[in-house]
Amino acid sequence: KKSPRPMTFKKDFSIKGEIEQARIYSTALGIYELELNGRKVGDEYFAPGYTSYKNQLQYQMYDITEYLQKQNLLMVIVGGGWAVGSYTYKRMNRIYAKRQAFLGEIHIRYKDGSHEIIGTDETWKVTEEGNFLEAEFYDGEVYDATVKLENSSFHNAGIEKMKIEPQLLVQYGSPVKAHEQFEPVSCELSPSGMLIYDFGQNMAGVIEADIQGRAGEKIVFYHAEVLLNGELYTKPLRSAKQQAVYICKEGSQQYSPRMTYMGFRYVGVSGISADKIKLKATALYSDISKNGSFSCSEPMLNKLQDCIEWSAKSNFVDIPTDCPQRDERLGWTGDIALFASTAAYNFDMSRFFDKWLKDMRAEQNPGGGIPMIIPMVKIPGQLEMLFPLAVDHWGDACILVPWAEYMARGDIELLRKMYPSMKKYIKACKFWAGLFSAQKKKRIWSLLFHYGDWCAPDMTYKEWMKRGKWTGTACLAHSSAILSEIAGILGEKEDEEVYRKLSLETAQAYRNILMNENCHIKGGDFQTGFVLPLHYNMLFEKDKKRAAANLVKLIRDNNYNIKTGFPGTPYVLFALADNGYLEDAYKMLLTDTCPSWLYEVKAGATTMWERWDALREDGSCNLGEDNGSGGMVSFNHYANGAVGDFFYRRILGIEAVEGGYRRFRIAPLPGGGLDFAKGDVNTPYGYIRCSWIIEDGGFKLTAEIPAGTQCEIVLPSGRSFTEGSGSYCYEEKIG
Ligand code: BGC
Repeated sequence: KKSPRPMTFKKDFSIKGEIEQARIYSTALGIYELELNGRKVGDEYFAPGYTSYKNQLQYQMYDITEYLQKQNLLMVIVGGGWAVGSYTYKRMNRIYAKRQAFLGEIHIRYKDGSHEIIGTDETWKVTEEGNFLEAEFYDGEVYDATVKLENSSFHNAGIEKMKIEPQLLVQYGSPVKAHEQFEPVSCELSPSGMLIYDFGQNMAGVIEADIQGRAGEKIVFYHAEVLLNGELYTKPLRSAKQQAVYICKEGSQQYSPRMTYMGFRYVGVSGISADKIKLKATALYSDISKNGSFSCSEPMLNKLQDCIEWSAKSNFVDIPTDCPQRDERLGWTGDIALFASTAAYNFDMSRFFDKWLKDMRAEQNPGGGIPMIIPMVKIPGQLEMLFPLAVDHWGDACILVPWAEYMARGDIELLRKMYPSMKKYIKACKFWAGLFSAQKKKRIWSLLFHYGDWCAPDMTYKEWMKRGKWTGTACLAHSSAILSEIAGILGEKEDEEVYRKLSLETAQAYRNILMNENCHIKGGDFQTGFVLPLHYNMLFEKDKKRAAANLVKLIRDNNYNIKTGFPGTPYVLFALADNGYLEDAYKMLLTDTCPSWLYEVKAGATTMWERWDALREDGSCNLGEDNGSGGMVSFNHYANGAVGDFFYRRILGIEAVEGGYRRFRIAPLPGGGLDFAKGDVNTPYGYIRCSWIIEDGGFKLTAEIPAGTQCEIVLPSGRSFTEGSGSYCYEEKIG
């Protein structure tokens, strides 16, 4: 079923006197752009943004005082976007409305004190024969520059009866804007004769083209993340076309898509020769500001840090998406649950998370389940349509995301807002864990369905999911421990105890039922099976030692290659470093054979991959189980980038002890042959800065502690100091 064509609305209006101030308040079903007297209003993309439309819809407010003349023409282009356009891997469209709609009010205040409101009604005109012939997120857009709107047949707009009744709220999320711009690093003809531009950076964004064209000339821009044998490799995009088609007018002209975005590093161009076009690429993402930095003496790690930041930017396009390119770009909860902490070190996520968590609260199932995709889309065949499904690490986003944000910025209100959802969710988890289970097993959470060790290398997805019992049970122990802590912070004393007990019982069930007496995993050791109970602090001292020894043996026997899926990856280095195996942690981090973090960097990645071996050593691509639809591989998934947390928390050693860093630690763990590391973290109190260097057999730490905070500094030898605000320097001999 084809999606409705973009609509162009117009309204002529005149002004009756001298203006004091004029504003437009506007929103749409679909995504819209305003043009007033030929000038674009505002600089955001994809307004009104993506929210759980059936619950809330944002509107924007623009000051248009400067735009107005005696006679005015307002044009509004409304594309399908998330609400009406094709969306989800099942390619559904018209999810929230049959067709696009626009709602607006122009408020004019005159100098004489009078006031006028021009609202949308049937006097507005509309056409579907504008310049945009098609526009979709996945497929891209078709733009015909020869169409002259003055010749298009406009008819009167009609009132749209909506299927949904959202609350209208003034924009509260961070708008999507244009950020970095890239010049091509190369432009070459491929073996098949296609002109291919390489922008040197994988990203979410759009091209900007300067064209010398002939009227009617058709240029097609193809987008891809990787090349295979010198050609654009588009199979991983599955059904998403990611194409921009531009039909030229005569002469010199500019074109850049406005109603779509693509995930790409390479752009193939057909229909024009290289001397007639200049191409740039612009990254699009939500307006989140940089919040921290990390660098060290190992250039490969610095590149990895760069990949992590770019995967974050590419997937923070109004909602936290899994990937920016193929036919998904959905708000998968598990990906951000595991990446939230890394995200909050690197960027100020407060507005972005706040907006998304509002949707989560609205879409929680009455039984406590958290949909696996927020905003939720009812995808046929998805289990959560039938049950209040709770899925480990995915549903736990309702705890892990606000917790990461709270630790970074100390926003206790966010915890308060999320607390009822968290409680309901844990109740649902407990229900599933206890269903059909005898006494001893009632804390083993295997029902109904888990993603398990999702994306662990060399395994099928069925095998990932078989580990759901381990990932699920560990997750329940961890989330209930965090919830107990949150209850304590919120003064809910009884709850604090209830969840502490639940956490303890669940941890013991994991130890007693899922591990054998020597702390091996029943049914066979695997990295994530140890990583989770170790990092989630689920084991008593003696068992911890055994489990850590078992983990390190597994890792050494595996030549330090990583074997974890989504849930184990963020924590494997912590599990080693915090249990006496710091050098092993560094070895694993610095390994560059496949699969490993630095293998991706060595293979030329500029963003994190979904699969560890997305590009295999022989140059082929791992699509996973492909039934002909393109399998599952993305080159821009941030989940594996959750290792970034380790850079800040352990290599630099900066870690909040109390939400918002009122109390925090600087406890760097040098190792792995690194000569220095440095970085900073912005907090509500100001910047924390820290750097260390190893010189002449000595370790030297410099730290800056912001006013109003207290810091415990722990040197590698274990010596520790408690300091208030100021600049500090410590030195000690190594070894
Ligand atoms: C997505 C993941 C997501 C997963 C859930 C995939 O298709 O890209 O990142 O979390 O589905 O199973």
